[in-house]
Amino acid sequence: MKSFLPLNVRIDNKKILFIGGGKIALHKIKTVAQYTRNISIVSPEIQDELHQMGFTEIFKEYETSDLEGFFLVYACTNNIEVNRRIKNDAAEYGIMVNVVDNRELSDFISPAVIKQDEMTIAVSSNGENVKKSVEWRNKLKALVQRGYFLTRRSEPEKRGFVSIIGAGPGDPELLTIKAERVLREADVILYDDLVSSELVDRFDARKIYTGKRKDHHHYEQEAINEEIVRHALQGEKVARLKGGDPFIFGRGGEEIEALRQHGIRYEIIPGITAAHGASAYTEIPLTMRKISSSVAFCTGHPVNKIQVPDADTLVYYMVASAVHDVLDAVAAKGRDEHTMVAIVQNATRYNQKIITGTLGELRKSEQAVSSPALLILGENINQFISDNWYSKKKKVLILGEDLVGYAPDEYIKVYYPCIQSEETDHHTLEQAGAVDLNFIDEIYVSSLACIRNFRELYKDIPKKIIIKTANNYIDDEYRRLFSV
Ligand SMILES: C[S@@+](CC[C@H](N)C(=O)[O-])C[C@H]1O[C@@H](n2cnc3c(N)ncnc32)[C@H](O)[C@@H]1O
Repeated sequence: MKSFLPLNVRIDNKKILFIGGGKIALHKIKTVAQYTRNISIVSPEIQDELHQMGFTEIFKEYETSDLEGFFLVYACTNNIEVNRRIKNDAAEYGIMVNVVDNRELSDFISPAVIKQDEMTIAVSSNGENVKKSVEWRNKLKALVQRGYFLTRRSEPEKRGFVSIIGAGPGDPELLTIKAERVLREADVILYDDLVSSELVDRFDARKIYTGKRKDHHHYEQEAINEEIVRHALQGEKVARLKGGDPFIFGRGGEEIEALRQHGIRYEIIPGITAAHGASAYTEIPLTMRKISSSVAFCTGHPVNKIQVPDADTLVYYMVASAVHDVLDAVAAKGRDEHTMVAIVQNATRYNQKIITGTLGELRKSEQAVSSPALLILGENINQFISDNWYSKKKKVLILGEDLVGYAPDEYIKVYYPCIQSEETDHHTLEQAGAVDLNFIDEIYVSSLACIRNFRELYKDIPKKIIIKTANNYIDDEYRRLFSV
């Protein structure tokens, strides 16, 4: 059996001879002409098309001496006897010959090729199934023409860039300067549940909510990864905004893995994790000289895998439905019943709430804890916790613009997104309706549209709340709407 070795042969300055000038020769010459113009044709008749290609033409019948000085020869006559003679003569001269459609007589065969720029794809069946080679070549050619394999040099492939950003625990001012800039420059922001709408609304990019809340349509982590990758592959600047820090129970690691798999460039911008936010906004130092010299971040989920590391201060994330499981696990590890525990809900937000007690007390009591909540346990929980600097501030709900200029050292300004356009998504609307008036000390109204919109969600306002309005018109409207 004949075997053929696929290789690329150097042909510059080497002459190639075609014997025969019919359709078969035309077909072969078209392929060879993509690589060299050093082609001669010997034939009594030559196809018009070949004639117009401008190669050296010798109008005559084949003779042995025609082979002299050639590097390769293609025998393309329609006479098998002549082709056989060419083969034998070429062997005498030590020239390799291809006899068209006759692999037995050929020293080399021509693959079916696709040539584009510097690239050549050659398909060969070892000369055994030419039809199949041509079929494959045509299929590949269609893919090449659709741009499948090739990247044009003038148009570098567009691959976006992803910034995985920690948004902090809630207070929108706890965002890094770097994150702020990246969010300003982003084309699209994909944000999670724990990211406040006040923060997201500050930026112009397209926003996509990728929360995982159980009660609504929710994204699984894999679907989020796909969504990030999809936008990046479209060449967009993607800001992936996550609550707290992306690398503390934030699944940032999985997102990077997906980006790496697709060769997408990325950066990671850390955020203030909930433990740090809660610690600062409740005055619980996580370490303290002589009292606590180690701290561990743990999770209360899943409950059958709760770990109790040997650290002075323990911080448990994801505890809303696992408080007792966590406390039991800690007690089982031999921690003193008198150790102080603080459960901090909505840390750094206007509705921050703290539940405190000893390990023994809280194990015995039933506490309704709503998410997001952290549990901190250790000797460093001090007497200031309920009377902390943050809880002393008044909470003012602003319906419209803050024309008064409420001083931030005295007030926590509670955000209310009253302008609802088609772009206001489900998350924003829910947040709007989710302002807990029990935490509010004052409402300031400077927009008619806002107070009307507010009235649709809240039928009445608790009496303890002070109402201030920007002018008489707004005041009248407020009174009319709430019948006061
Ligand atoms: C999936 S983890 C995300 C943690 C986040 N990557 C971080 O660094 O804070 C969600 C948990 O973080 C905690 N958490 C996040 N924000 C919080 C907040 N403002 N107050 C209390 N706990 C919070 C809660 O324990 C919540 O169940």
